[in-house]
Amino acid sequence: MRKKLIAGNWKMNGDKASNASLLADVLQGLEASVACEIAVCVPSVYIDQVGRMVDATPIRLGAQDVSAQDKGAYTGEISAPMLKDMSVRYAIVGHSERRQYHGETDALVGEKAKAALASGVTPIVCVGETLDQREAGETEAVVKRQLAAAIHAVGHCVSEIVVAYEPVWAIGTGKTATPEQAQAVHAVLRAQLAAATEHAEKVQILYGGSMNAGNAAELLAQADIDGGLIGGASLKAPDFLSIVRAAVVASA
Ligand code: PGA
Repeated sequence: MRKKLIAGNWKMNGDKASNASLLADVLQGLEASVACEIAVCVPSVYIDQVGRMVDATPIRLGAQDVSAQDKGAYTGEISAPMLKDMSVRYAIVGHSERRQYHGETDALVGEKAKAALASGVTPIVCVGETLDQREAGETEAVVKRQLAAAIHAVGHCVSEIVVAYEPVWAIGTGKTATPEQAQAVHAVLRAQLAAATEHAEKVQILYGGSMNAGNAAELLAQADIDGGLIGGASLKAPDFLSIVRAAVVASA
């Protein structure tokens, strides 16, 4: 059975002092052996700080983006080999905020996923529709187009990616997809993966978008929801820990 993965996406939040106290509180609240996977995707300047704190703990280190290039004249970019060098396990690619504010295309997101995998960093490939697209009945077509680009780029390594379904209208808005709405899209994504790899059953498909302590259990109980990508609620230790506990219960 797939393990659940609860990944915090801190976005552009935190400082040295608040990172340290957040992580200390989360670590203190965790059982010694947790029956789900946990990661925190942190701003790149804090990868070293957070990496030291989570070393030898159940929490894995994640980045929020990665370059499609390995090295060279790409000012401001951070490469997958650099992330690997810092013991980073996951990199979010194609988050809707990067698609929206940084013009990232499906093809570029695919290249980023490929670059991450080539360095042994697991890409968390984000897909999701806007409210307009949902209302126009385009949800399925949009997420399939986005995932198809990643599948195309990573070739035979499809089963090594993590997918995150994040409806754009649910991100940071307090509006969550219902468990049924989310499961329906996850099932579509699973079927698409199954057409590309015989190992689709092992791919974790996370839900993201206002997942919180109150709604996590219902979402995580769905057959194809294998975890969460958590923004706002990952910045509060009690909330993040509640979601981790919900994932443990859903795994039992
Ligand atoms: P949210 O963000 O939980 O604050 O809605 C999720 C995300 O953008 O990854």
